[in-house]
Amino acid sequence: MEMSPPRSNRPAEGPRIIAIANQKGGVGKTTTAINLATALAAVNKKVLVIDLDPQGNASTGMGLDRNQRRTNSYHVLLGESELDEAIIPSGIPGLAMVPSGVDLAGAELELVQIREREFRLKEALKGHGQGFDYVLIDCPPALGLLTLNALVAAQAVMVPLQCEFFALEGISHLVRTIERVKKVFNPGLDIQGIVLTMFDTRNNLSDMVASDVRAYFGAKVYDTVIPRNVRVSEAPSHGKPVLLYDFNSRGAQAYVMLAGEVLKREREAAA
Ligand SMILES: Nc1ncnc2c1ncn2[C@@H]1O[C@H](COP(=O)(O)OP(=O)(O)OP(=O)(O)O)[C@@H](O)[C@H]1O
Ligand SMILES: [Mg+2]
Repeated sequence: MEMSPPRSNRPAEGPRIIAIANQKGGVGKTTTAINLATALAAVNKKVLVIDLDPQGNASTGMGLDRNQRRTNSYHVLLGESELDEAIIPSGIPGLAMVPSGVDLAGAELELVQIREREFRLKEALKGHGQGFDYVLIDCPPALGLLTLNALVAAQAVMVPLQCEFFALEGISHLVRTIERVKKVFNPGLDIQGIVLTMFDTRNNLSDMVASDVRAYFGAKVYDTVIPRNVRVSEAPSHGKPVLLYDFNSRGAQAYVMLAGEVLKREREAAA
């Protein structure tokens, strides 16, 4: 008799789609998207980063210049380009991008006029990005239609949380939004995990915030903590992930550890 295949709530085909979201600005969303993607590519995963932020920091941070962004996530969302046509190589083996473009700033308003506006990215991903193991979506610092599109398209959301005062207050709003998206649009949406970023070992507040967040969210918080590290902040101006800019830095090593934890959770979720 044949063994039945392992049961899984994951789609048998297509990439695993993870939105990296937090409506608070400057908490490490883009840094996490770029460096987690690079660390996953380094262990032979095929990774696509979709830059869904009009600021385009992920695109700049990967060293993509303006003329490489002509076809971008704006065109994909508005249905003017197929997603696969907007994918460009990043220069890092196994890692590709859908860049952002300046037009994306107007997309929030344009989308309001469109039918099924929350589902644009989900629709765009259908049958696309098939060669990838992971799609990471870098969200803007707002809970508007762009982030909503990411949360509807994704199977999981990763939340970077800066170790600072009021971190928990900010995240409760995000958690409520995720719950609402689950109820209304995307019942399968899961929190992949919460990653503590910019942890400052010299600052007692970082410790206090970290233990508060762990007390509240328990095992959802990754063991890996991303330290505040000057090499991480320097890397984007060189158009490189910190993993390539200074692999031995504490920041780069933390992202390698985080990728290991993410893969472990993914294996457990699939089992
Ligand atoms: N671990 C770190 N150590 C030092 N600097 C960091 C670290 N992580 C991020 N930064 C810096 O902090 C700033 C904000 O980070 P990042 O752009 O990743 O946040 P974000 O949440 O994507 O911001 P936004 O909400 O504007 O999109 C950047 O200048 C980045 O280089
Ligand atoms: Mg960003």
